Amino acid sequence: MDRLAPFRADLDRLAVAGRTRRLIPRAGVDFASNDYLGLAGHPRLAAAVRDALDSGVPVGAAGSRLLRGNTEWQEAFETRAAAFFGAESALGFGGGYPANVALFSTLPQTGDLLLLDALSHASTREGARLSRAEVAEFRHNDAGHAADVITGWRAGGGRGAVWIAVESLYSMDGDRAPLDDLAQLADREGFLIIDEAHATGVWGPQGRGLGHALEGRDNVITLHTLGKALGGSGALLCLPGVLRDFLVNRARPFIFATAPSPLMAVAGAAALDMLRDEPDRQQRLHDLIALFSQEMSARLPHLPMSGSQIVPLIVGGDAETMALAERVQAAGFDLRGIRPPTVPAGTARLRVSLTLNAAADDVRRLASTLEEMWPAL
Ligand SMILES: Cc1ncc(COP(=O)(O)O)c(C=O)c1O
Repeated sequence: MDRLAPFRADLDRLAVAGRTRRLIPRAGVDFASNDYLGLAGHPRLAAAVRDALDSGVPVGAAGSRLLRGNTEWQEAFETRAAAFFGAESALGFGGGYPANVALFSTLPQTGDLLLLDALSHASTREGARLSRAEVAEFRHNDAGHAADVITGWRAGGGRGAVWIAVESLYSMDGDRAPLDDLAQLADREGFLIIDEAHATGVWGPQGRGLGHALEGRDNVITLHTLGKALGGSGALLCLPGVLRDFLVNRARPFIFATAPSPLMAVAGAAALDMLRDEPDRQQRLHDLIALFSQEMSARLPHLPMSGSQIVPLIVGGDAETMALAERVQAAGFDLRGIRPPTVPAGTARLRVSLTLNAAADDVRRLASTLEEMWPAL
């Protein structure tokens, strides 16, 4: 009996559809990472971790937060981060993915409605799949449609709270949610959950996110990840204290998991120091965004620009996208093609991610390479 046959068959089906994923080594100038501020390899972050190790901070948390894993470094970081982002409290997780699974599978209750933007991240969908609430979607960034879906749900007898879930800056499209309109809707109907994964560190005063003005409200929850602009790994949910207590008592991904490494709390705190002390990093990234937009508008004016550090260049077909990505990679740029199911069918794209790991000259060269290769499709 070939026990591995079903897995081979599934991989064969992916290959036929041109959707096999492969782990490839890093090569070329970084236009693919989420290390937006160039902190992941920054000496100041490394020094903070080295000093912590030298002064006896352990590598591992050694247990769940509810057992031996609740370290002073994690607690201090959460208190500090809550104050930085403007929330009543913060709770740490090993990553944004488990944080979203914990949040969506635990907070919305039976009888509630969990309303997701149509382009919500896989981690949000996974949490929603485990939720006791009813789940519905609204059209991407369409607050009017969100209101219509709620009206329809209420008319059908829905009585509970509505939890509206969005990303402040969408990971594959680089566009922004209409947060003010959605906050007004949430004030009438329930809660607003803002995933700031791609905005933390990059947007808002000192990088506090696009929803910074809403932080601290009793019906707003934000997710700030540490693995993107903050250069480490892990995540924080910022939320009212009572909801933090509820997660500590009820969220299975929090209760039944080893706590994040104390070193990541140290690195996270050092990253917040850097946001405070080096505001020019944010400015330099914004300058690169403007430069890329200017270069591309001059060279390939039919391609719309997102206005953020994430710029999707939609090609359409999967095969053409991956072929173009390979050619651009061969020219020395680490630029990745993104295909369905990560993005909707027919919208395969090159996802340009602008980071401080690329210089202005790299950005200019990338734009000219794209101009050269684009019509060759
Ligand atoms: C919008 C969004 N939310 C959550 C996550 C998950 O965060 P992490 O990578 O820290 O698990 C990601 C990462 O890809 C993301 O893009």
